[in-house]
Formats: sequence, structure tokens, C-alpha cells
Amino acid sequence: MSSIQIAIDGPAGAGKSTIAKLVAKAFHFVYIDTGAMYRAVTLKAMRNHVDLADENAFDFIDQTRFDYKDGMLYMDGENVDDEIRTREVSNNVSLVSSHYIVRHKTVKRQRELAEGKNVVMDGRDIGYHVLPNATFKFFLTADVQTRAKRRYKENLKRNIRSSLAELEEEIATRDRFDSSRKHSPLRAADDAIVIDTSDMRIETVVETIKAKVREDEALWKQNSQK
Ligand code: DC
Repeated sequence: MSSIQIAIDGPAGAGKSTIAKLVAKAFHFVYIDTGAMYRAVTLKAMRNHVDLADENAFDFIDQTRFDYKDGMLYMDGENVDDEIRTREVSNNVSLVSSHYIVRHKTVKRQRELAEGKNVVMDGRDIGYHVLPNATFKFFLTADVQTRAKRRYKENLKRNIRSSLAELEEEIATRDRFDSSRKHSPLRAADDAIVIDTSDMRIETVVETIKAKVREDEALWKQNSQK
């Protein structure tokens, strides 16, 4: 059987990465967090003091190594998984990921990472752009308040100080920017299953996705036996 690709898209704080990680673990699939890649590109650009508004300043992406180990991103061999979550990176990543050249170069790397493997990939444009032929496509949403609360808790775990009101504002701003940008804006693929996670526990969402995958797997097996 060819490889299975599960695309999980949605806005910031909809629970994508937590859910995608758990789904990947349950099926022993590789987990690829594409937001982490855009964050890492932003981090490197900031470290190199390049003009983040200049899309021609991102040629370094082609010479950058990205590896995912145990769901964490390593850039040029360095584990950057914590540093890419700082407020500075969070506040600049929308601008960086809106550049056509940045998207073109990173999408190429994302497709290479997924090639021939069973993967769970999360992001904003996976189902309709990065992996348009993904076996399963899910789009997770949640209201802004719920998403800000989740980010707040996540930050606490990472020892990042934040204010709930500010997080709400930042998430709403990032939503507007990500959904209205010119290149590959945040949106659900036409054939994606949309799940509103506002009043759902993480485990319930994970079980919903796992059940859908298993249901189809059973169907394939049945059909292949005919
Ligand atoms: O999921 P996240 O918050 O870590 O994503 C960080 C930023 O990267 C977010 O502002 C939107 C952008 N992004 C994107 O444009 N396309 C993706 N496939 C993933 C993330």
C-alpha cells in the first residue's frame, strides 16, 4: 500500500500540534510541524539581522537543514524547538511566512520530508496546497478565547510569561493576517473534514480523527479483498 498522509490545518491555537503529535504517535507516523519550519526560518533571519520585510533576504533557506526528531525541529543540527516559540519569533513569523519566496522554498522542503513516508503534517495550507492528494484532511477550528487560553497554558509549560488578553489580541491579529495574505492563505481544503474543537477535549478530537482513519482503513481492506 502506498504511504498514508494525514493533513491537519487550522488557525493558531486550535490544538493542531498537540492533536497531530498524538495522532502520529498512535499510528507510528512521522510528525511534521510546518509552522515550526516557518518559525525556524524567522529565527534564523532574526539572528542574521536581515530585513524581514525583504523577501529577497531569504536565500539562506536553501542552505539550511531541517530535521524532525521525536516531533521536534532541528535547524542545522540545533534543537530550536523552544527558541522558535518566543514572543519575538511569534510576532514576526506571519510577515516572514507571507513572502512568496519563503513559502516556495519551505513548501519544497516539506514535500521532500513527506515523500514516501506515513506522515501527519500540520499547518495552514497542507490540505489544499502542500499535500493536495493527502489521504486524510482535517481542518480544526476553535473560538479565539479558547485558543488564547490554550496558548497561555502551553506558554506556562514552556516558562514563557504571557497575558491572556494580549494573547487573544495577538491571535486575532495573526488570524486576520494569515487568512488574508496573498500567497496560500489559511483555509480548509474543499474535501477537508472540519472539526470545531472549542468545546471538545483534546482526547476526543484525537479519537475522532483516529476513528475516521481506522474506518477508511477497514474499507480499503474490505475492497482489496473483493
Ligand atoms: O502553527 P504556528 O502558530 O506555529 O505557525 C506559525 C506561523 O507560520 C503562522 O503565523 C502561520 C505560518 N504558517 C503558514 O503560513 N503555513 C503553514 N503551513 C504553517 C504555518
